[in-house]
Amino acid sequence: RLPDDHVIVICGATGDLARRKLLPGLFHLARAGLLPTRYRIVGSAPAADSVGDEEFREQARQAVDRFGRAAPEGPQWQAFEEALSFGAADPGDPAPLLAAVREAERAVGGSPRRLFHLAVPPVAFGSVVKMLGATGLAEGARVIVEKPFGTDLASARVLNDTLHAVFDESRVFRIDHFLGKESVDNILALRFANGLFEPVWNREHISHVQIDVPESIDIQGRAGFFEGTGTFRDMIVTHLFQLLGFVAMEPPSALDARSLREEKDKVFRSLRPLDPAQVVRGQYEGYRNEPGVAPASDTETFAALRVEIDNWRWAGVPFYLRSGKALAEGRHMVTLTFRQPPLRMFRAAAHDSAAARSDTLAIDFDDPGRITARFLAKEPGPEMRLGTAEMVFDYAGSFAQDHALEAYEHLILEAMLGDQSLFTSADGINRLWEVSEPLLKDPPPVEPYTPGSWGPESIQRLVRPHHWYLPDGR
Ligand code: BG6
Repeated sequence: RLPDDHVIVICGATGDLARRKLLPGLFHLARAGLLPTRYRIVGSAPAADSVGDEEFREQARQAVDRFGRAAPEGPQWQAFEEALSFGAADPGDPAPLLAAVREAERAVGGSPRRLFHLAVPPVAFGSVVKMLGATGLAEGARVIVEKPFGTDLASARVLNDTLHAVFDESRVFRIDHFLGKESVDNILALRFANGLFEPVWNREHISHVQIDVPESIDIQGRAGFFEGTGTFRDMIVTHLFQLLGFVAMEPPSALDARSLREEKDKVFRSLRPLDPAQVVRGQYEGYRNEPGVAPASDTETFAALRVEIDNWRWAGVPFYLRSGKALAEGRHMVTLTFRQPPLRMFRAAAHDSAAARSDTLAIDFDDPGRITARFLAKEPGPEMRLGTAEMVFDYAGSFAQDHALEAYEHLILEAMLGDQSLFTSADGINRLWEVSEPLLKDPPPVEPYTPGSWGPESIQRLVRPHHWYLPDGR
């Protein structure tokens, strides 16, 4: 499956995302032979950040050198570098971008498809989209849109209206890079390709689910972005809710975009509006001293919440979500804990702690990922004593990683192929903002936590009578 010939335009090409992910990702796709036979990549930015073609190539080389998987050298790099050019664009003066795109199209020949990747700050989003519409550049083109998609329901609707005035929904690719991670996509294979798991994947058998993405990094100097965003908007309403969609959806009738998005959106429609009393907002000590952070900032750097899905599969099963900065470890975990069977016959045999720690299926979607099933087993010896045992599937140990793509690489490729399966829909996003309204209107105060901890103390209360699986597998 190779995409049609393309001219890819990165709006925001001198920014952080382009440097860290997009340029290195595109170079990896080129090396892996996954870019179209003929392509050009045009970088764009406001005139104030304008660079010449050569300078842009040098920036790309440095980006690949620092963040890429292979050094920018040899014939593959040369070919990639030659495909790069730059065209500045201000809403009032898009001429240099227009000229660069025309030149790139001439170089590719025929009528290549245009793909815009909008790696621009939210404030610039509307004007860039309007400019693409007004210049005609958007005609027939696809567009990749970065998160955060709005800050609440009203702003998301405005953004969607702006987008849809220029691009119809079939050409809009809203990115949530968690959906491009191999081991997140594997949730679909695990659930729907195996008779072992799907039959127990419901309220009859599962007592609670945790979606836990602690990060050890702090805001890394990104106060400008983070102060106006916070963990709920940056991580929960986006990445963690999208994961929840995959974990909770009904089997889709086919693995195509329409069926997958429909099933995910149905989960979102069944989500109960968030109850602020079931949310803990935290802020790490020292956050208010970070450069660019207001001395009395109320922005949360941590959020944990309990959500419920009111449908036949999940009614009564709490989903606990947690994410935050400056925590003890950086992890990506989805854990399902099964209902305990009556352990009466084993009463003397099961250590309490062992019993509480087992009966879990833990999906670790750190790249490349692993899945661990924990259960009780008889310890060797004359007596019936139960201990915790594990079965582990390790992605790296089980499959060669040669063809593995990183999330951004995977998603850019899917957008070039025109497959929206792993992208979010307007309806889905609107619904997520809608269920978030009660929390956004009435957020509980932020509670301080020590950097390097697992968050504020009150998160234990939130999950009672259950326990967080991290850090010690309970
Ligand atoms: C980004 C957030 O979308 O995801 C960051 O803006 C966060 O704040 C990052 O650190 C986490 O992504 P990953 O793939 O490293 O877990």
